[in-house]
Amino acid sequence: MIPRNEVHIWSARLDQSARTLDQMRSTLSTDEQVRANRFHFERDREHFIIARGLLRTILATYVDAEPAQINFSYSAYGKPALTTNPSSLSFNLSHSHGHCLLAVVSGRQVGVDIEMLRDDLAHEEIAERYFSPREASRFRALPKQLYTAAFFNCWTRKEAFVKAHGKGLSLGLDQFDVSFVPGEPARLEYVQEPLNLSNWSLSDIHVGDRYAAAVVVEGPACLVHSREWPLPV
Ligand SMILES: CC(C)(COP(=O)(O)OP(=O)(O)OC[C@H]1O[C@@H](n2cnc3c(N)ncnc32)[C@H](O)[C@@H]1OP(=O)(O)O)[C@@H](O)C(=O)NCCC(=O)NCCS
Repeated sequence: MIPRNEVHIWSARLDQSARTLDQMRSTLSTDEQVRANRFHFERDREHFIIARGLLRTILATYVDAEPAQINFSYSAYGKPALTTNPSSLSFNLSHSHGHCLLAVVSGRQVGVDIEMLRDDLAHEEIAERYFSPREASRFRALPKQLYTAAFFNCWTRKEAFVKAHGKGLSLGLDQFDVSFVPGEPARLEYVQEPLNLSNWSLSDIHVGDRYAAAVVVEGPACLVHSREWPLPV
């Protein structure tokens, strides 16, 4: 069981041994195996299998089931949820360049996002196009050496919010503002109606220097408990 005031963050590398890959593959449902087979590149297929298998393996420990017995249903926007869910667990998964994060909470919605930091993007153009007007103008005013960190702070915080809400990118990234200047605390600063600012809480997750990551939970702020998978034996 997870206390209502906690969010559990599981962090894992997606490059795993052939044995772990086989073990994870054996837990997947038929539709997940079909999805895995559609990937063009073997590495993407393996990462999908590990992430899905891991999702099943970790959720199984919370609901006292076997990983292969877990059944998922999907919202109209593709957000997965547990089909049978007596303890009201919610979860959300994100992966980026070989790393995956899983957030698990009880009795409220959750969204998580991880991105690898990249210098080779047109940060300013993407900010103009996707951030809110207020965020875009604050971004432009930053010194250029802060662009990469600020951009990925903003992007992961915004994605975590739209994933918690459940609409994903259909929500419109310009409907709300987040903080993003490096060194400032992570917070939601403004949301357009009918969204309600006090319904959501945002926290950063530290996954090392190469990644930015954030989690949004419904309701008041939670204690963030971070764990690595596999747990040390
Ligand atoms: C969800 C979304 C923001 C993911 O962004 P991303 O940075 O590319 O991917 P991430 O690795 O962070 O997250 C992917 C995971 O989020 C979860 N997810 C999928 N849809 C989601 C949604 N609407 N809300 C929250 N989580 C979602 C899944 O677990 C998915 O993992 P999987 O690909 O292994 O199944 C983006 O795909 C999106 O906006 N989807 C909605 C699409 C939509 O509106 N579809 C309409 C019906 S087709």
